[in-house]
Amino acid sequence: MNGVCVFGVTGGIAAAKATLAVSMLVKQGLDVHAIMTESACEFVSPLTFRTLTANPVTVDMFEEPGQWNVKHVSLAQRADLFVIAPATANFLGKTAAGIADDMLTTTVMATRAPVVIAPAMNSGMYGNPIVQRNIASLKALGYMFVGPESGRLACGDVGPGRMAAPERIVDFAMHALHGRGRPSLAGRRVLVNAGPTREPIDPVRYITNRSSGKMGYAIAGAAAARGAQVTLVSGPTNLPEPEGCALASVETADEMYQACMTAASDADIIIAAAAVADYRPASYSCSKIKKTADDMCIRLERTRDIVAELGQIKGARVIVGFAAETDDLLVNAQSKLVSKNLDIIVANVVGGERSAFGSDENSVTLLRPGLEPEALPAMPKLALAHEILDRAASIIRK
Ligand code: PMT
Repeated sequence: MNGVCVFGVTGGIAAAKATLAVSMLVKQGLDVHAIMTESACEFVSPLTFRTLTANPVTVDMFEEPGQWNVKHVSLAQRADLFVIAPATANFLGKTAAGIADDMLTTTVMATRAPVVIAPAMNSGMYGNPIVQRNIASLKALGYMFVGPESGRLACGDVGPGRMAAPERIVDFAMHALHGRGRPSLAGRRVLVNAGPTREPIDPVRYITNRSSGKMGYAIAGAAAARGAQVTLVSGPTNLPEPEGCALASVETADEMYQACMTAASDADIIIAAAAVADYRPASYSCSKIKKTADDMCIRLERTRDIVAELGQIKGARVIVGFAAETDDLLVNAQSKLVSKNLDIIVANVVGGERSAFGSDENSVTLLRPGLEPEALPAMPKLALAHEILDRAASIIRK
């Protein structure tokens, strides 16, 4: 997706890590313009950001006589997305208090773009009620926050205050960008399941599938960035936790069933993107099964169909399922739409070159009762997540 991203950098050691986030945003196709505070320049040279973005870096409001007021307003207006990373306690305090006394705070004040803030500071400062109050006020005004994370800080303290990982900042920022102008999900509860399940055979072996969790994580992250209260029930994946979601990590289909049934009770929207095992070994061997000269048979039994059971007790909830097919995509998807009592089914191909498993892109057809199939062009899973949420939000019943 193309667009203009204004990237603010304030003074902290995490300014060095911010260079990675800038580089990732550039790779996403964004035209990035960095604004640095004077103290940020003590940690990283403006030349670094200039080189990464191929754009001039702004530090001083008065560097072009007569131009300063035009420049901060023009960047603010051109921005499709505004990211501040790292954001110091000083920046948060000034912005929350409405103080605009340098290029960054004036530009933030003037923008209408979504603003994503990644705070970074010493744990003591972060825990200070003044800082917490400023964060709460900014959140109430619609400013979005990523992190901070807990861990060892540059000052040697251990605790909350470390800037969120660049991947998390960029992921959330891209959701904020894609979610712009789309229906808000504030006040809505969304349950998403994602990833594979693992059905154990013995202490060292299990049956699983090729799901990476990317599709479900993209939906969960997108819903959180649009203000929903999200529960993500996830099988084992290697993905970072999406910002703003309550994560319930599970392993087996049975554990996923239990976690989904609990979270479904007050959900407005349920999206079942997980590749849940249809069968599990009928018995579990507590000892590692020894190999013999003979072939071996493992008897499998059916697992419970989570989304079908949720479909039976649907009530006012909107339920979206996926159909992962190698053959007869639309016929099979239509039959699952009806038999599982879903509002939408997202039909995608698995296996072969176009497989939805593990890829960053997906090409799907949406099926809904009484409507013509809607084929969407291939797009990143992150963008598709917002398309799916738009359709689900349009049929919320309560
Ligand atoms: O995770 P990725 O690598 O990003 O890949 C994404 C994906 C291919 C896993 C995803 O796009 C997808 O298609 N998810 C559904 C996979 C699947 O199990 O499809 P299915 O056609 O077998 O099942 C139909 C629906 O029933 C699905 O919503 C599934 O979650 C649900 N189901 C299936 C079996 C079961 N026991 N319980 C269920 O709830």
